[in-house]
Amino acid sequence: MENKIILAIETSCDETSISLHKGSQVIDIETFTQIKEHNNYGGVIPEFAGRMHSQEIAKVYKTLMNRNEMKAAQIDYVAFTKQPGIINSLQVGLIAAKTIAMLTNKPLISIDHLQGHLLSPFINEKNIEKHFPMIGLIISGGHTDLYIMKDSVSYQLIGKTTDDAMGEVYDKVGKKLGLSYPSGPEIDKLTTSKEGSLKFNKPKTKELDFSFSGIKSQYFREIEKTNVLNIEDIINSFQYSISNHMMDKLTLASEKYNIFNLSISGGVSRSPYLREKITSNKMFKNIYFAKPKYCSDNAAMIGYAAYQNILNKVQVNENLDVDSSPKSTLH
Ligand code: KG4
Ligand code: ZN
Repeated sequence: MENKIILAIETSCDETSISLHKGSQVIDIETFTQIKEHNNYGGVIPEFAGRMHSQEIAKVYKTLMNRNEMKAAQIDYVAFTKQPGIINSLQVGLIAAKTIAMLTNKPLISIDHLQGHLLSPFINEKNIEKHFPMIGLIISGGHTDLYIMKDSVSYQLIGKTTDDAMGEVYDKVGKKLGLSYPSGPEIDKLTTSKEGSLKFNKPKTKELDFSFSGIKSQYFREIEKTNVLNIEDIINSFQYSISNHMMDKLTLASEKYNIFNLSISGGVSRSPYLREKITSNKMFKNIYFAKPKYCSDNAAMIGYAAYQNILNKVQVNENLDVDSSPKSTLH
């Protein structure tokens, strides 16, 4: 398996990303991000996203293949994100993957985007079985999901958001302040101290579920009632309160299941503030963060998940009539 070439395609949201892998190792990746285009609207517009993937995907493929002097015939497996995501976007990757698999007569491997995130801290690592079981947390613009990762291919969902995703809240809070999309990194830059003076009420949720809309509403109220905006204090208070909620769930999950290894992934996990908060909690034994370049949506995590699925003989070798789906199989 270490000599096999995997081509992976990720187009579930607003990144057109294609990567080449040799076994567990990423050879190269090419990504076109649509962030600038969606920035004008303060969020991703599904119809635009699909059209931009169609415009860009052939260019992304050609750039990657030419840079690596690779021919389609050298590819052993074609992997793609089947679900979840924006259907218009997913379908562009699906059609590209089908076409390449059909012309090269190579297996077509479908991957769930959430499996990609969960395994993203281990991209390029060969033997990962020693890390399991783990608690896996995905925090992104579309997801806030907590799993027990039993091994590299079996996961059990133990908690999820009951309203907004964590990244979505950062983006809405940022929009209210007139910050650009995505706002998570901007909010991070504006955070100056560990604790603000405002005390937001703790969300009330079922055991391991998350809820961010209460914190968001309290934040909005604070912003609206302040005449001279004390942005710094409000942002510090918001960061403190949202990160505490995340920590409460992580520690509760670890205690409940007696698992102290963590895998943390997704765009929000790029935050140095959150990383510091997680690593400073000494109850966890090993904490595995995705590299910053693999936190946001990328094809490398899809190719690596395909590698693990092929290695563990659970890969779905799809027929050419396979279709995309907006829903994850891990939910
Ligand atoms: O994983 P991702 O790139 O896309 C999705 O699959 O959703 O995550 C994007 C999200 C955005 O909501 C963005 O605001 C957030 O990740 N984000 C951050 C930071 N960097 C990106 N949130 C908090 N702090 C950051 N430094
Ligand atoms: Zn994602």
